[in-house]
Amino acid sequence: MLSLVPIRDRRHMSEGELKHELLSDLGAMIAREVELDQLLTTFGLRVAQALQADRATLWLIDARTKEIRSQVANLPELRELRLPVGNGVAGYVAHTGEVVNIRDVASDRRWTPEVDQRTGYRTRSLLCVPIIDARSSTLRGVVQVLNKKGGSFTSSDASFLQALARQIARALDYTSLRTDDTESGVPMRGRFNHIVGESPAMHAVYDKIIRAAGTEATVLLHGQTGTGKGLMARAIHVNSKRRSGPLVHVDCTNLPANLVESELFGHERGAYTGADARVQGKVEIAAGGTLFLDEVGEVPIELQGKLLRFLQDRRFERVGGRQTLEADVRIVVATNRDLADMVKQGRFRSDLYYRVRVIEIELPTLYSRGSSDIISLAEHFASVYSRRYEKRAVKLSSEARTALTRHSWPGNVRELEHAIERAVVLCEDGVIGADVLGLVPAERVSGIFELPARADGGQGATGRRGENEGLFMPHGLSLEVASRLYATAAVERAGGNRSAAARQLGIGRNRLARLLRNDE
Ligand SMILES: Nc1ncnc2c1ncn2[C@@H]1O[C@H](COP(=O)(O)OP(=O)(O)OP(=O)(O)O)[C@@H](O)[C@H]1O
Ligand SMILES: [Mg+2]
Repeated sequence: MLSLVPIRDRRHMSEGELKHELLSDLGAMIAREVELDQLLTTFGLRVAQALQADRATLWLIDARTKEIRSQVANLPELRELRLPVGNGVAGYVAHTGEVVNIRDVASDRRWTPEVDQRTGYRTRSLLCVPIIDARSSTLRGVVQVLNKKGGSFTSSDASFLQALARQIARALDYTSLRTDDTESGVPMRGRFNHIVGESPAMHAVYDKIIRAAGTEATVLLHGQTGTGKGLMARAIHVNSKRRSGPLVHVDCTNLPANLVESELFGHERGAYTGADARVQGKVEIAAGGTLFLDEVGEVPIELQGKLLRFLQDRRFERVGGRQTLEADVRIVVATNRDLADMVKQGRFRSDLYYRVRVIEIELPTLYSRGSSDIISLAEHFASVYSRRYEKRAVKLSSEARTALTRHSWPGNVRELEHAIERAVVLCEDGVIGADVLGLVPAERVSGIFELPARADGGQGATGRRGENEGLFMPHGLSLEVASRLYATAAVERAGGNRSAAARQLGIGRNRLARLLRNDE
């Protein structure tokens, strides 16, 4: 998985190295929208540093209003600026698609001091390039850098920024920030750009997320597997005032108590055999940002007391250390367990339970979100995966739509995502039929995941030919895709129960989680 090294670690790097690294980071995160967010958050600093500029700004065109909006202004005092297309240099580039390189803005008629007046900043030199969708040639936005250190921007700076803009265009194309090909701009759904779903149940969730994001209170996200807990944790972070700080994820699954403790709080040299250096815990790494404790129900009871203390006063000691340290972090936790029940059974401390559920947000199951959300998610994933597998736009047949809305989705959005990915891989004529989906209607849920045999009994499709014959896959899949499909099938067979699926596969839950995310 891509991790963005903090900016302070790059000081020794040359300009060429910085540029190269930034381009390859962008390349690596394409198609992973969550990381797009992460990248955009640090984008301003990274681009500015690579181009020896003082500031960098990304402006996206709002497809509906045609305003341009600065997403990452790199100005802590102002989160978002809006300008009509055509206004100022960024607006000019968003309108014409030209590259503009200005040595001294005072002598350029396209320059307007409006933004400087609003930000109190003084622009001298400026380089601005368009973000253009390669397939449709429509404009999506612009990237702009300001005030080159010790001079003005060169033509090689301009070529670099254009290469970067091409990568951004590709990245946007893989996300929900895209329109149909004929329209310029990107659809802006405010603060939940990468989250699909307009059902009342989801709107209630968005409202709670926004309210929670405005506070420092600990949030408990509760929901079945695959309902989007990870996505919502990120939404809280990126909508909070800590958004420019780190979001650090700790998966508390299946780790013995001592390992969870050192993962969280770090350890001193010599704390145990093999601890040959001091290691910072995730709470320290998350300082200034958000710590996301995933599967908090799995924290071993022996460690729950220490976690409680940390939640109460943000104080902790590294394993093997005597000094008490403090970390300024906001905490979000997630679980698919019934914590109240675990408290009754004595497996979860009640004081910890009350601490973590200051704000509790329940994520609806996919089935309960209704047909319209199921279909819009299916279309979203069909479009994401047609691009990823470089197939022409794959559509859903009306039988497929019916099958999708009748299925009970025990694995929720993740199951739907994988079903659509598999169908995109398998479908031959650009249309996903009900057969390649192979779903069992809700009223007949049996936990059987395998696809039904094709009517013609042909090769090349997956199919369930008999109760015990298992999952068939076509030739030509990469091992990576095949293992993800197989792991997903196992989870779905287990009715969404990951521990049971991991047992059946003979691997640990962490390994299973990595297989499902495909970063193994
Ligand atoms: N509303 C949504 N819109 C778009 N994608 C979604 C939505 N909800 C979930 N997803 C996608 O579905 C997958 C599962 O989501 P996520 O990992 O956040 O679920 P989870 O609740 O954390 O699951 P688990 O408990 O199994 O870890 C991810 O790929 C995520 O991007
Ligand atoms: Mg998760």
